[in-house]
Amino acid sequence: MSKVKSTFCCQSCGAQHSKWLGQCSSCKQWNTIVEEIIKKESTPTLGLTKDQLSSKIQLISDVDFNNDPRLSVSDEEFNRVLGGGIVPGSLILIGGEPGIGKSTLLLQISLKMKHKVLYVSGEESQQQISRRANRIENNSENCYILNETNVETILTQINNLKPDLLIIDSIQTLQTDIIDSSPGSVSQIKESTSQFLKYSKKSNLPVFLVGHITKDGGIAGPKVLEHMVDVVLQFEGDRNNLYRILRVKKNRFGSTAEIGIYEMLNNGLRAVHNPSELLISNNKLDLSGNAIASTIEGIRPIMIEIQALVSSAVYGTPQRSTTGFNSKRLNMLLAVLEKRAGFKLGTKDVFLNITGGIKIEDPAIDLAVVAAILSSNFNIPLKKGVCFAAEIGLSGELRPVPKIDQRINEAEKLGFKTLIISSQSKINIKTQNIKVVEFPTIESVLKILFKEQD
Ligand code: TYD
Ligand code: MG
Repeated sequence: MSKVKSTFCCQSCGAQHSKWLGQCSSCKQWNTIVEEIIKKESTPTLGLTKDQLSSKIQLISDVDFNNDPRLSVSDEEFNRVLGGGIVPGSLILIGGEPGIGKSTLLLQISLKMKHKVLYVSGEESQQQISRRANRIENNSENCYILNETNVETILTQINNLKPDLLIIDSIQTLQTDIIDSSPGSVSQIKESTSQFLKYSKKSNLPVFLVGHITKDGGIAGPKVLEHMVDVVLQFEGDRNNLYRILRVKKNRFGSTAEIGIYEMLNNGLRAVHNPSELLISNNKLDLSGNAIASTIEGIRPIMIEIQALVSSAVYGTPQRSTTGFNSKRLNMLLAVLEKRAGFKLGTKDVFLNITGGIKIEDPAIDLAVVAAILSSNFNIPLKKGVCFAAEIGLSGELRPVPKIDQRINEAEKLGFKTLIISSQSKINIKTQNIKVVEFPTIESVLKILFKEQD
């Protein structure tokens, strides 16, 4: 006989309580506790024999891991992000805002696989998926689709089909018979994931799980979800812009510094191999307010364009508005400009935009931001072929930035003539076509750039 048990589960943090509370004592959120019925049943064996289920102790050096080569995806960008392909038996969670392209990315990968793939969707019908596949224009003999939300049914279907890769879109739509609460609730998500985790570890089947994200950007569901899986990927970008970045937040089998850059086209996503060339506009006009910075995304150097507009404030309080850049950092840079270099922008509106719709947190773009702002303020275009890579400290000093050699190489490759950096930087490479100019403080560099304004 199955025993019916109920628990009071916080939908925000996943903490379980023995009785209902107005406020969760764990995460302090109000009205997040919901009663969930759990039907305690004997653990399902998921179609595996007792032999396969029993664990055995092995000497670490005896464990043979070479027998399981990684599954290679026909998408180099994706392979690299995963650290060289999909590890058999791994559970990979991919999160991102609605409409960013998670389903498109995974369907595209499924269609290109040389192995048998099962794409399970709880959100779209088979016709819808098929229509999308047609749009991506890729005919596949290996990709199977299933429209199902019940975990036990999906596991039975997998046992029949025996795919080499499983894709679940999305984990929030699934429902397992073990728990009686509605799909998307914390315990449903946790239990469904743990069923796939057990299955994938025992049968070596790699599984991709699509996860919705919450308002503040985390993957919806309990935090334990991210602990349970092997890899957490995040697909991000501005929905109104072309570019999408695939970031690794956790990877048990590779580096978290890798990123993949994609472009959303009419016929699916396309990997972008030369982001710098796309992010810098080939504007022949000499416009003021534009500066080029050398930044590092993951481990890749990228040249980006920063645009600033400085105008007299119409209202009492000047506006400060940024896209793709931290507005607190902008305020800090404006304060440093005033205190350490004598440029007063307190009565001016300052608008800052990083082109391409990408968000940059690298402080190495500080100097380019300041240069763009002053260029707009004085209406003096910066010289063509000049780019920047330096952080600005609170005392107005230029601070060295990591991976300076890679930044110099990238700037040189793209035909820049001068790179302005901090005089404390340690350079280990020789350059031929680019002049690397070092300055100690923000005052010294701005004097050279905006001579007339002294
Ligand atoms: P989708 O992949 O469904 O996003 P998610 O699963 O993350 O919610 O949709 C991505 C968006 O991209 C959708 O609004 C339509 C658009 N799109 C294209 O621009 N080109 C394409 O080839 C496809 C398939 C979708
Ligand atoms: Mg989707």
